[in-house]
Amino acid sequence: MAVVYVLANQKGGVGKTTSTYNLGVALADLGQRVLLVDLDPQGGLTFCAGYDPEDLERTIYHCLLRNVPAREAVLKNNYGVHLLPANIDLSIAEFQLINAPARERRITKIVNEVREEYDFILMDCQPSLGLLTMNALAAADRVIVPVSCEYLSVRGTTALLKLIYKVKGQLNSKLEVAGLLPTMFDSRTRHARQILQTLRDEFPRLHLYPYVVTRSIRFAEAAAERIPVFETKIQVPGALAYRELARDLVRRKEDE
Ligand SMILES: Nc1ncnc2c1ncn2[C@@H]1O[C@H](COP(=O)(O)OP(=O)(O)OP(=O)(O)O)[C@@H](O)[C@H]1O
Ligand SMILES: [Mg+2]
Repeated sequence: MAVVYVLANQKGGVGKTTSTYNLGVALADLGQRVLLVDLDPQGGLTFCAGYDPEDLERTIYHCLLRNVPAREAVLKNNYGVHLLPANIDLSIAEFQLINAPARERRITKIVNEVREEYDFILMDCQPSLGLLTMNALAAADRVIVPVSCEYLSVRGTTALLKLIYKVKGQLNSKLEVAGLLPTMFDSRTRHARQILQTLRDEFPRLHLYPYVVTRSIRFAEAAAERIPVFETKIQVPGALAYRELARDLVRRKEDE
């Protein structure tokens, strides 16, 4: 049965989508059955995975609000992962759900429909702490928090942690923070190195993954070409971090 991870940070552009996709492909390369869930109406993950969000007839919106079974909206990607896609329709879901019964448990229901069929389910959140992110946290076993190596990103982490502890208290007692994942790390700057220390100092009880995703233009290039970063001609050191994180997640699952 799948372990469910959510990648969340309400700060925009910290590498949530990039991490979800490349981690997912790295897990699939290790022989794991992986479902990626796009919970961002911008459909960035859907795009990275090779689909045009606007061309899709069935998306997670239809599972959330039109009772379409999750299985019927799942797409298969060329690099071994399955995808529950999203597009702009999802932006109205947040409003439509406000008065719905069990409005925080809609994603949990969807995840439960397919959980037996996968080893890992990874959910990519939009940069906000709204109802969809809350739904994702309610459905997840663990949260990975991508944090870009700059000071503003560290500050935003505190607000996210508050929401996580609230969800844990009220909706999902098993929820755990798996770790903070440093992204966009530029080893040439002292600032970036200081940020790693700040993360250790400010969040002493949280696990800081030792796999640091270095900054590289290849990530943006790969996303534009809709290939995983492992497929770029010149190997990127940052890509290895996703391979190592994937091995870590598999080891942890096997140990349980
Ligand atoms: N390690 C990296 N080095 C350089 N650029 C990166 C790296 N990781 C991601 N990027 C690029 O930075 C931009 C933002 O990344 P991404 O979309 O993954 O962030 P996000 O947190 O999902 O953003 P949003 O909050 O808007 O959903 C993208 O153009 C992406 O290609
Ligand atoms: Mg994103």
